[in-house]
Amino acid sequence: MDQKEFDNYVLQTYRRFPITLVKGRGMQVWDENGAEYLDFFPGWGSGNIGHCHPKVVAALHEQLDKIMHVPNVYYNEKQGELAKIIVSESFDGQVFFCNSGAEANEGALKLVRKRNPHKKTIITLNNSFHGRTLATVTATGQTEYQKGFDPLLGGFVYCNINDCAMLENLMNENVAAIMLEVVQGEGGITAVTPQFLHTARELCNHFDAILIIDEVQTGVGRTGKMFAYQHYNVQPDVMTLAKSLGGGMPIGAFVVARKYCEILQPGTHGSTFGGSPLACAAGIATFQAIHEENMLKNAVEMSAYFRQKLEDLKSKSALIREIRGLGLMLGVELTKPGAEIVDKCRAQNLLINCTHQTVLRIMPAINVTKTQIDKAVAIIAKALVE
Ligand SMILES: Cc1ncc(COP(=O)(O)O)c(C=O)c1O
Repeated sequence: MDQKEFDNYVLQTYRRFPITLVKGRGMQVWDENGAEYLDFFPGWGSGNIGHCHPKVVAALHEQLDKIMHVPNVYYNEKQGELAKIIVSESFDGQVFFCNSGAEANEGALKLVRKRNPHKKTIITLNNSFHGRTLATVTATGQTEYQKGFDPLLGGFVYCNINDCAMLENLMNENVAAIMLEVVQGEGGITAVTPQFLHTARELCNHFDAILIIDEVQTGVGRTGKMFAYQHYNVQPDVMTLAKSLGGGMPIGAFVVARKYCEILQPGTHGSTFGGSPLACAAGIATFQAIHEENMLKNAVEMSAYFRQKLEDLKSKSALIREIRGLGLMLGVELTKPGAEIVDKCRAQNLLINCTHQTVLRIMPAINVTKTQIDKAVAIIAKALVE
């Protein structure tokens, strides 16, 4: 099917680049004409271990021969196994499985609403991104995503990132939860300060509110720790996950600290395909691959290497305002819109992204090598000069 016919049949909610991707392996993808691209934004943040990792592929093949889907009224070994891994990697509690980041956040929001009907307020951050469902688009503190979808869900208020005084002013006993990303991804690669995250934690403790950390984009090794909150010595009450959790397979989850596990009782929440054996087998293989191949260590080392290369580029280019990020979640803020640079990189077979108009978002797989980084930096340098 050519792209014109595709556009005739598929709802036009995305601005698509004119390439059709048909194959992916590790850091590379290929289009239908055989052109090879270096993918430094794999799977829109879902490719932390690269395309078609052999351990994930093998786990999927093995599971496909057994059973693809088990309704959640039966036990499913793979789901239990993945839940145990996630808990052992984060904090003591229980896991609910779903299929996407928005669905994970939606469930987390339902949990805080259910806990105490008198606590109506949920604080999220300006420039955040939490998904496209009505509740999560309301939680998203960016009006451009909310335009035209009134009336939005009630009870949400928005705080500026890293503004502790504003957060203190917004907080009171009616607040059910504070929900935030440790590094805002769609919001321009901006990390919370330790002071801000600690203030959020203390305010939640003081006013009996739940701290939800959205690790949909930052989780599963992206920042050099398994979860980004682990850089801060702060523990959430609820953590949401998706994107790279399935090593490329669709899966979402939220993890609930043990003391809040009684809130959602049978019948209060569900998801037909949530935690299917297929998606969970891929999730288990993803964690195994990260550990067996020392990917967290590689992410830390390659982050330092990449950042230095980008800083060198900044010292030579007036177009770069700032390099920021955590681990291999990198943002290059430009002095002009970045879409043109993304196009120029793509013309040289490098795939990156631009978020927040001026921030190049660069998130290679966390098993990226120095050679691949050198190649990408050379292409970005050329695109900036052009
Ligand atoms: C931090 C964050 N939360 C939630 C979502 C929504 O995830 P999904 O697209 O899987 O619904 C995203 C997607 O980009 C995200 O970056």
